Amino acid sequence: MARARDIPDDADEKWLYSEHAAAKHEILSRYLDAWLPILGRRRRGSHFRHKQLILIDGFAGRGRYVGGEPGSPAIMFAQAVKAVEAGYAERVVIRCAEPNATNFGHLQEVCAELRHDRVDIVPREQTFAEIGAAVSEWARRQRPAAPTFVMIDPYGVKGVELALLRELLSNARLEVLLTLMVRDPARFLKEGNYAEPLTALFGGDSWKACEDAPNRAECLLLRFQEAVRPDVAQWATPFRVFEDERKTILYYLVHLTNHDLGMREMKEAMVAKSGEMTFWPVTMRPPAQMALEGAEAEPYPTLQQRLAKKYKGQTLTFVELLNDEYPDGAWVEKEHRAAIKAMAEAEEPRATIERVEPKTQTGRPARGLKLEDSVSFPGAVE
Ligand SMILES: C[S@@+](CC[C@H](N)C(=O)[O-])C[C@H]1O[C@@H](n2cnc3c(N)ncnc32)[C@H](O)[C@@H]1O
Repeated sequence: MARARDIPDDADEKWLYSEHAAAKHEILSRYLDAWLPILGRRRRGSHFRHKQLILIDGFAGRGRYVGGEPGSPAIMFAQAVKAVEAGYAERVVIRCAEPNATNFGHLQEVCAELRHDRVDIVPREQTFAEIGAAVSEWARRQRPAAPTFVMIDPYGVKGVELALLRELLSNARLEVLLTLMVRDPARFLKEGNYAEPLTALFGGDSWKACEDAPNRAECLLLRFQEAVRPDVAQWATPFRVFEDERKTILYYLVHLTNHDLGMREMKEAMVAKSGEMTFWPVTMRPPAQMALEGAEAEPYPTLQQRLAKKYKGQTLTFVELLNDEYPDGAWVEKEHRAAIKAMAEAEEPRATIERVEPKTQTGRPARGLKLEDSVSFPGAVE
């Protein structure tokens, strides 16, 4: 089989739309759909929280696939238009970097068709390193810097340096969705060609510890998470993408952010795609999805058991619990809320909720569970 790196970036064969590209695009689209309104939401009154929102497509590609399917720049544009037209943002600026001349030619044609008076999309014939440096320089001059989303989607591992990620993420309002390509590096880790780009991406040679690991792909993700957390980003949430039925991991989509709500929204977008934090090719059914469809109806007994055990004897706010829970498993806010409320309302309660606002506006006892409410689990801390 040809290695991805042996096929030129502008070969048409690299621009056939795959299931993986569709999965990635669905996550991108769902996330921006949720996140642009949160970032841009108006304060009480008529002002926007931020005058403009910025989207950077660091490895933009052609903007379209050979079957006419839209690429990431067009997806960003569509979601930006939706956000400004719904009144969530005043203006969105999109910048796309693509250094390959053939791919850039396609990208220019695609971008020329994407017009809106409050969404400005500009393709640039440059590398991610170049656009990334310009973005961080620009952010340094702004006070405060505009919220910025950066997609970094290389074919391989070349062209992304941890030093640049660190610089970009030092802007607290910036976040990154990174394709961490692991299949080929995992196969050919000892061959030498990967040494330089991996060392740049990991900010050191911690990846070498994976050379003899039983699962090199997973090992690379773990070492990468260690390299970024917590100094570069507080959260590094991975979505695993399988290539085929043999469960070969093709890449991880890793979301880097210092914003806990952003982390949770991204996980929701990822879980919405396949019922868990993994993409399964169509020929396979995701096991967790089957579990969800089968035994696990509301109030999610497995989740309840897990919470009762994990937080035994502890009191924490609902948002603290979510932030602690999100890095594991497929359960998101909705399931946690249902599970905890049912635990609190059971004849023999297995949790107690202390609400910041115990009464509703009509004076009835509140029954909801807000992020700032406290939850206590009985028992002694283990
Ligand atoms: C996986 S494709 C991008 C696909 C696109 N994000 C999408 O979802 O439609 C990677 C692209 O990065 C380009 N590229 C290669 N080296 C680059 C670099 N150093 N900086 C930015 N882009 C690069 C390639 O030419 C290729 O078009």
